[in-house]
Amino acid sequence: MGHLQQETARRRTFAIISHPDAGKTTLTEKLLLLGGAIRTAGAVKSRKSEKFATSDWMELEKQRGISVTSSVMQFTYNDFKINILDTPGHQDFSEDTYRTLMAVDSVVMIIDVAKGVEPQTIKLFKVCRDRGIPIFTFINKLDRQGKEPLELFEEIEEVLGIESFPINYPIGMGQSFRGVYDRFQKKIEWYNENKERQTLEVESMDHLSEALKDVADESTIAQLEEDLLLIDEAGNEFDIEAVKAGKQTPVFFGSAVSSFGVPSFLEHYLQMAPTPQPRESSAGTIEPDQSSFSGFVFKIQANMNPAHRDRIAFLRICSGKFERGMTVWLDRTGKQLKLAQPQQFFADSREIIDEAFPGDIVGLYDPGFYQIGDTVCGVKDTFNYGELPQFPPEHFAKVRAKNAMKQKHFLKGVNQLAQEGAIQIYRTQYEETILGVVGQLQFDVFVYRMKAEYGVDLDMQMMPHQLAKWIVDKEEAKNLQRSSNNLVVADRDERPVIIFENEFALRWFQQKHPDVKLADSSYSL
Ligand code: G4P
Repeated sequence: MGHLQQETARRRTFAIISHPDAGKTTLTEKLLLLGGAIRTAGAVKSRKSEKFATSDWMELEKQRGISVTSSVMQFTYNDFKINILDTPGHQDFSEDTYRTLMAVDSVVMIIDVAKGVEPQTIKLFKVCRDRGIPIFTFINKLDRQGKEPLELFEEIEEVLGIESFPINYPIGMGQSFRGVYDRFQKKIEWYNENKERQTLEVESMDHLSEALKDVADESTIAQLEEDLLLIDEAGNEFDIEAVKAGKQTPVFFGSAVSSFGVPSFLEHYLQMAPTPQPRESSAGTIEPDQSSFSGFVFKIQANMNPAHRDRIAFLRICSGKFERGMTVWLDRTGKQLKLAQPQQFFADSREIIDEAFPGDIVGLYDPGFYQIGDTVCGVKDTFNYGELPQFPPEHFAKVRAKNAMKQKHFLKGVNQLAQEGAIQIYRTQYEETILGVVGQLQFDVFVYRMKAEYGVDLDMQMMPHQLAKWIVDKEEAKNLQRSSNNLVVADRDERPVIIFENEFALRWFQQKHPDVKLADSSYSL
């Protein structure tokens, strides 16, 4: 195997999807600790609380430098190079969160044992399912009383429509949580009073209760045996091909806060998770270990300080080796660029790097060269990876310039910010401009930037709509029955989109038009 193949084979690039408070920050931190990328617990966490103590945009801005470094984190574990991409949640939930999922090869879905599958997880899950990427489930907070594991498997299958396969199984829960039984390695992993990780081999299921007698109480052991018997007999068969296709999710249990189950989760994950995957392009499938360099921009982080207009474009490397100072071509403009100051991100710093490989993310200094979805290649006129899809906004507003004389600036600003991926724009049949955003905070950012960068004060009228669906067949948009709680608009590519006030309005529409196919994002068009 050549150097490029070797480096590609040891990379794993993933994002964690979850609902706020399920434990994403805590699990990320424990993984970084295992990889030695941070030394003290709390390093990632303290940043988070600092970060969104306020929803004031300027305040957020002061902390931008911090959030850039936590957008991508790389660490090494057992010779694997692991890239974790942050999927901002809380007030920071935005289209960037969805777009990040375009740049990973697998995801880890965290579920809070007491809360089960929650709304934000469902939204992010759907994007992963549409991409057919492998999903690994970590059920967290087993040190608290929650739903029974069997109930959770049922919920995962019913709500998300994916098969589940528990790789390990919890020994007790809440006060009586002792650790996990690894069904693959037939091993008990438990923690003694000093919270040290202990392992015990179990020859066969018949020896399980004997092996556990000093670890757990009788009723916990009996329950475990009963459940294991049931899932052995009635549960799904493990199918690695289904895992790779995103049709079956391997499930792990643990408690991130106390690190229970985290090391074994990581070890299994690294064995099962895909290496950097081939990607479709205008010239067919591009293999990661082909020699010529390529990648695409999935996120642009703007520096809001008007005195420093610089931005950072996040590039996912898809093929070939990246070298500092290399000359590349930007497919959209045909422009030649020299990548002089590429940065790579570590848990608490960013550094100028000399080389990087498929699966890695590099930060490129961007004085305005790049747009979201741009393809960058090491060879001129080769191919592009296509546009990134648009994802469903949840908040809508009609906007116009307060001063009609500023119309030109207004349109320029709106279009540029839409290209940057900060907002989506739609047009009504009366040529009104509607903004769509995934998180409410994006409106504040938009208002601020329109004033600061384009000198435009806005009139903004919030709309009651909450859901957007793309109409798959353009022709069908022409003779639809309108109602007061839906509105047909056109997206930036003139594709018809229908926006609804609520789920009820959507269902009403679907009953009236059972044949009209609607898509959750422009991805599946
Ligand atoms: P997020 O990034 O997904 O939003 O979640 P985060 O890791 O911040 O965790 C949310 C809360 O859940 C935190 O409590 C965290 O300590 C707690 N938590 C995470 N993992 C576990 C676990 O395995 N068991 C239990 N019992 N709690 C867990 P907090 O009170 O909001 O913050 P803190 O004061 O504890 O830091």
